[in-house]
Amino acid sequence: MRIALAGEFNSHEPRVAATPETVKKLVSLGAEVLVEPAAGKRSGILDADYEAAGAKMAACAATNADIILKVRRPSSDEIKSYKKGAIVVAIMEPHDNEAAIKHLADAGLVALAMDLIPRITRAQSMDVLSSQANLAGYRAVIDAAGEYGRALPMMMTAAGTVSAAKVFVMGVGVAGLQAIATARRLGAIVTATDVRPATKEQVESLGAKFLAVEDEEFKNAQTAGGYAKEMSKEYQAKQAALVAGHVKKQDIVITTALIPGRPAPRLVTKEMVASMRPGSVLVDLAVERGGNVEGAKSGEVVSVGEVKIVGHFNVSGRLAASASALYAKNLLTFLETVVIDKKEKTIAVNWDDEIIKGTALTRDGAVIHPNFQPRG
Ligand code: NAI
Repeated sequence: MRIALAGEFNSHEPRVAATPETVKKLVSLGAEVLVEPAAGKRSGILDADYEAAGAKMAACAATNADIILKVRRPSSDEIKSYKKGAIVVAIMEPHDNEAAIKHLADAGLVALAMDLIPRITRAQSMDVLSSQANLAGYRAVIDAAGEYGRALPMMMTAAGTVSAAKVFVMGVGVAGLQAIATARRLGAIVTATDVRPATKEQVESLGAKFLAVEDEEFKNAQTAGGYAKEMSKEYQAKQAALVAGHVKKQDIVITTALIPGRPAPRLVTKEMVASMRPGSVLVDLAVERGGNVEGAKSGEVVSVGEVKIVGHFNVSGRLAASASALYAKNLLTFLETVVIDKKEKTIAVNWDDEIIKGTALTRDGAVIHPNFQPRG
């Protein structure tokens, strides 16, 4: 069983899919692990660290590998060297990328998408969306604090009192909850909103105040899978009015609102941005999916008058070492659970397991996932 750790060609991607800790474990499972030189460099991992864990360095690690570990979906160029039947495990981003998924099928690869891990209790330890969103939520607050020209906590000093910053978190999923917790730890006064009623209690349990239009539609706004539904135009208008009055009194707004498979909902208009006090900061974690904040630009910090809108790419990658450590652990647990037979020390994909059914995009030259069939 040969496992390759491939490097990331995307210049916006500093994360890596295995750490010395997970390599060691893979070696103990009977794998020969090959690592592309410098694969871990931007996560602070040296080639020598991988070697000490039992890996061999190889410039074309992925050639002839049975399993290839990556952070991002490999490009058509990268897969040219992969052997037919190889298993590729990565964040595949299959939504709106049917053509790229078809390429993986045409190359005869088995593509397993870590971003499609079902959100069931058994798979929590493999859930990369959660592990990465948690770090992004934390980093969003740190980025906001870095851009904000004032302190976040209240400080009573001999030279006078600095008042606490007001932070508003929009979207209380995994990232939003961590943003609330982080802003609270830094001493801010935190409010938060979401369309899923279940979040109200979570917000309050973190010591923040919940703000939302709590009508009949709101009471039914959660899908069976625990995700948000797209809200009606009427609800959005009521929510916007409530939010508009609130946003103008905030120092920092952090938005994380997403609806799976849909563009991000627009929650903050340019008028709301213009209503904020000079020096205020917005951080849009949904920027790569269309953005929650009007005027946010992917990969940029833009100034609108005296207000800044932060739209960094790949926010969990801004904490590359932590993000890689958690991602690598998610991957290892996934491999041990449904891809490798630990006793036999061989590859034995459990095709009947709901975790494989949820994540397998391609097999035997075809796209097998029902949700991502090529558009005819
Ligand atoms: P997400 O990244 O898809 O969305 C972020 C948040 O935006 C969600 O809370 C969503 O309700 C909210 N949102 C959407 N439209 C909005 C709007 N118009 N206004 C305000 N907020 C809006 O969500 P994430 O972080 O992936 O979590 C989704 C759910 O899955 C949560 O309930 C989470 O607790 C649950 N979950 C369950 C897991 C498990 O059981 N294994 C693991 C991880 C998450």
